Amino acid sequence: MPTSPAAKHGLAAADAPPPERPDWTIPQDWSRYGPEDHATWKTLFERQSRLLPGRACDAFVQGMRDLPIAADQIPEFDALSEVLMARTGWQVVAVPGLVPDEVFFDHLANRRFPAGQFIRRPDQLDYLEEPDIFHDVFGHVPMLMNPAIADYIQAYGKGGLRAQQLGTLAQLARVYWYTVEFGLMREAGGLRIYGAGIASSLTETRFALDDPSPNRVAFDLERVMATRYRIDDFQETYFVVDSLEAVLDLASIDFAPVYERVWQREELAPGQVLPTDTVISRGTGAYHG
Ligand SMILES: [Fe+2]
Repeated sequence: MPTSPAAKHGLAAADAPPPERPDWTIPQDWSRYGPEDHATWKTLFERQSRLLPGRACDAFVQGMRDLPIAADQIPEFDALSEVLMARTGWQVVAVPGLVPDEVFFDHLANRRFPAGQFIRRPDQLDYLEEPDIFHDVFGHVPMLMNPAIADYIQAYGKGGLRAQQLGTLAQLARVYWYTVEFGLMREAGGLRIYGAGIASSLTETRFALDDPSPNRVAFDLERVMATRYRIDDFQETYFVVDSLEAVLDLASIDFAPVYERVWQREELAPGQVLPTDTVISRGTGAYHG
């Protein structure tokens, strides 16, 4: 099934024993990547780099340009962190794959982005269960160079810890999903990608922007928080923001009354369109049937 290894950070890595460190970090151990690993990175890097011009937002393109990321080899986290730290105070730390929610949120709240240490196998170019180094580094790290997104993701980490205590993580996680992972934005040239789940996936890059099937709807916080999402396939609806600053504005909202209102609402199916939506393009729904 064509989809992206997006952030299923809500699940702990299946049956693997937790790493020794309580924060689940492990050494990146860069010298242990073999020629096949670097070749997989190169294949993925080159095909996304061909596809993204004119499709990724300006901040993504700029972030990529300023980072020590290239086609020829898997990036070193220490080198990425040095540049990121100077720009927005973030670092990239290695983890084995999915980590428990509270570990994930604690990293984000402290401006550490946990990135999968491993890379997918050559036969998994378009489908992977857990986020690997290509999804996490190619998809997420360029956006962490942007000050608005850098602050927003830290705030999400803090909000995640609170939402967990309130038992309302599902509603908050939808905000992350439909922004950081699958967000689209209006720019001068038209709709552009800023979500890592799209930017790191060849097939979803095309689907999200070019396919007539999905809905593209203006982002509305409470509407998004009521909307379920697809974790195993392309999204049925993409939500569109006007700017990255508008995303950061979400971080200054008091979520307590928002949760109260969202709890009163009916949950929406991923492909549902409401009369109150500002629809940018109404999808045909053909892909999901
Ligand atoms: Fe992700």
